[in-house]
Amino acid sequence: MVKIAPSILSADFANLARDIERVSTADYLHVDVMDGLFVPNITIGIPVVQCIRKVTEMPLDVHLMIDRPVRYVERFCAAGADIVTLHIEADAAENTQRALDLIHAAGKRAGVVLKPKTPAEAVLPFLDSCDIVLVMTVEPGFGGQKFMADMMPKLRQLREWIDARGLDCELEVDGGVDPVTCKTVIENGADVLVAGSAVYRAEDIPARILELRG
Ligand code: DX5
Ligand code: ZN
Repeated sequence: MVKIAPSILSADFANLARDIERVSTADYLHVDVMDGLFVPNITIGIPVVQCIRKVTEMPLDVHLMIDRPVRYVERFCAAGADIVTLHIEADAAENTQRALDLIHAAGKRAGVVLKPKTPAEAVLPFLDSCDIVLVMTVEPGFGGQKFMADMMPKLRQLREWIDARGLDCELEVDGGVDPVTCKTVIENGADVLVAGSAVYRAEDIPARILELRG
């Protein structure tokens, strides 16, 4: 069965503990970190991750949408992240590799993220170092955007490479995932589905999480 990672970007930040509890039947808690530089929005950072760590046992899936993430990955690990993903576009290849190595040295799971315009091939130099690869199906920066179905060939290609190499690497999708589009991403090989607005706008959140499992 696929895993569901609700994104707290769509939660009420003034009631964050309550809104984290509301998604406790999911598998991971997706935490979107934005710096106003790599993406045109600013969200939350290390102190908030520290606070979240104290109120939930859910694995924290921290998606760094920040410039040169190698500068901060160790601090996110120390703050309580279980999975840290960083964008391939955010730094030179050697620094991306170093960031993955630092996350592993901290005993955490690491992965790379691709913006919509970044081809699947960009992952290849890092694939053996990834516990997870995240494919964006919207331009990163905001919740509630329309799902980009044209990312499905990229998703399928990554699924093929992961399977052909026999890697223990999850394939995650983020952006516009709802009860309809979840079926498309599952068919195309995703194992972890991030969903912000589709989860938090639901009347019955546990039922919606179940629905998103396809
Ligand atoms: C967008 C974030 C997503 C966002 C998804 O940059 O990375 O995690 O919260 O929101 P929805 O599910 O509403 O598209
Ligand atoms: Zn995200």
